[in-house]
Amino acid sequence: MDNNLKKQKYELLTKQIAATLSGEDNIIAKMATISCLLKQEFSYYYWCGFYIVDENKENELVIGPYQGTLGCLRIPFGKGVCGAAAASLETQVVEDVHQIQNHIACDSASNSEIVVPVFKDDKLIAVFDVDSTELASFNKVDQEYLEQILNNSF
Ligand code: SME
Repeated sequence: MDNNLKKQKYELLTKQIAATLSGEDNIIAKMATISCLLKQEFSYYYWCGFYIVDENKENELVIGPYQGTLGCLRIPFGKGVCGAAAASLETQVVEDVHQIQNHIACDSASNSEIVVPVFKDDKLIAVFDVDSTELASFNKVDQEYLEQILNNSF
């Protein structure tokens, strides 16, 4: 998608998400709403959703609210792109997931991916994963807006 159109859509969504979540403090309700609004707007979002830090396990993510085909239930920190984002606390942008050695293929249709760590009060609470069936769907524009949306929502 053209970067200008992407920016326009993200600008609008940033406002729409903030307005929809205003006054809501339930984390699951927020995650479900963010996943839904983003997935509806972007045709290249094939799968999107949250992997939540499981407080009952050591360094493990567990599936949270998502939109799309069946996702893996659990991902250890360090494994795959989601695990790399959780372990490094940094956004991962992958143009071709088949080039990643320990990529977890929940759905073989996925070809590119972005994973953004989500913080509440400076503590990692989840990662937000978006997969596309196209190669290189995600760039700095997705990264900038997703980081902003996610870190203003919790
Ligand atoms: N591909 C991800 C796993 C999650 S699913 O694609 C929904 C990864 O390598 O982290």
